[in-house]
Amino acid sequence: MTDALIRLRDRLPGLRLSTDPGDLEHYGRDWTRRWTPAPLAVALPASVDEVQAIVRWANDEGVAVVPSGGRTGLSGGAVAANGELVLSLERMNRVLDFDAIDRTLTVQAGAPLEAVQNAARERGLAYPVDFAARGSCSIGGNIATNAGGIRVIRYGNTREWVAGLKVVTGAGDVLELNRALVKNSSGYDLRHLFVASEGTLGIIVEATLRLADPPPPTSVMLLAIPSFEHLMQVFAAFRERVTLEAFEFFTDRAIEHVLAHGGQKPFDDAHPFYVVTEFAVDEEASMAAAMAAFEHCVEHGLVSDGVISQSDAQAAQLWRLREGITESLAKHVPYKNDVSVRISAMPAFLAETQALLGEAYPQFEVVWFGHIGDGNLHINVLKPDGMANAAFVADCEQVTRLLSDALVRHGGSISAEHGIGLVKKSYLLGTRSAGEVALMRGIKRALDPNALMNPGKVFDA
Ligand code: FAD
Ligand code: MLT
Ligand code: ZN
Repeated sequence: MTDALIRLRDRLPGLRLSTDPGDLEHYGRDWTRRWTPAPLAVALPASVDEVQAIVRWANDEGVAVVPSGGRTGLSGGAVAANGELVLSLERMNRVLDFDAIDRTLTVQAGAPLEAVQNAARERGLAYPVDFAARGSCSIGGNIATNAGGIRVIRYGNTREWVAGLKVVTGAGDVLELNRALVKNSSGYDLRHLFVASEGTLGIIVEATLRLADPPPPTSVMLLAIPSFEHLMQVFAAFRERVTLEAFEFFTDRAIEHVLAHGGQKPFDDAHPFYVVTEFAVDEEASMAAAMAAFEHCVEHGLVSDGVISQSDAQAAQLWRLREGITESLAKHVPYKNDVSVRISAMPAFLAETQALLGEAYPQFEVVWFGHIGDGNLHINVLKPDGMANAAFVADCEQVTRLLSDALVRHGGSISAEHGIGLVKKSYLLGTRSAGEVALMRGIKRALDPNALMNPGKVFDA
């Protein structure tokens, strides 16, 4: 243990602190697996006071801190590869309060997303942000990345549901931001600075979340689509007629990877593209409207086959085809793109990107999927067996540069929902102007004067 760590132990004798090599490896990386973990130690505080004391110690000692949730992040944001202290919120995972009048739930930042969803459901309400990492990601990580997921089309990103935050800034101050007020026009809304801050401004220790009405009864439909160009027309046909809860797309390659891990083919024939869509069936006319959308698409050659769920179990089976993609690709160490454009720009962007990547990636398998109804595409490039990771990433980076240029032309973003972290840092200036990045640096200096909070992530201070 270093002298600095001994002094931390002296200040906080009850703090759970580990330098065990297994812990350093486990807590020093996220889902990217691209960097070799090398943290100084892992601290697992159990209270806001402990978090504050750790941050003050870090300032006194000049030790960098990496805030850490469930480490399901896909941008390298929670990676500690340079002797940082990992500050894991894992033990701060309790539900603290429910207010039935305000319809809010206050939780510690380490609470897993699924625990928050369950706590809301048990109280007759819903926390509507949802995605496949629900069991292992934390609400603090969701807020720090402004996580999206499969229901953004209906409920928006995590940001929409953050009513108030308690944070420990990089300077070691505890701030209560917005105190769950619905209306508050009293100057800058500092709460929103912490949403998507990726741990660079301080530590989110508690969140008060707005809850929604319980979801309506829904049906799930899987659509087979013959051509990429038809995707946005199918989206328009459904959006016009039904209340969409989700509209997600994936390719034949994606479905093949999922089915390699089990499950049944949804159709006898293979199709190049698929959409899984969920829509409300709370009104008598809703199902008829969905069928009208389907028939319209079939008549116009936009959809070649379809199946609609007849039970919750079947709905779950159809969803598995989409939600199982990330896990099924993990062994191929995918290089992940997470790009977005405005929905109106999607058809032109899709056409250009498809042509661009078809030419740029003849040597690699490319799997497309994503939240097409939000204008968000995930383009995953799979590493060939036996190829060195560094060489693979270097090849992919050359293509990402072209993709980033296309995003500039179409007014899009290099990160729709995963965050910039380390992975997309060199492309930030394609999405944000130099003026904006300069302001972000200034905001960081104000909240983290010694630049100790997750240094090197998002931008260099
Ligand atoms: P971590 O990975 O631990 O951290 C992410 C970032 O937040 C890091 O920069 C970290 O420093 C910071 N951070 C964490 N906790 C705090 C805190 N308390 N205070 C300050 N900073 C903090 N993402 C989506 O948006 N949509 C999806 O559909 C989606 N699907 C996924 C599916 C799978 C199978 C997997 C593995 C990942 C998926 N993700 C998705 C990515 C990931 O789950 C999200 O980014 C999630 O929000 C990360 O939460 P986490 O707790 O794991 O954060
Ligand atoms: C998803 O939409 O499934 C997630 O963002 C995860 C991923 O991109 O792999
Ligand atoms: Zn996603």
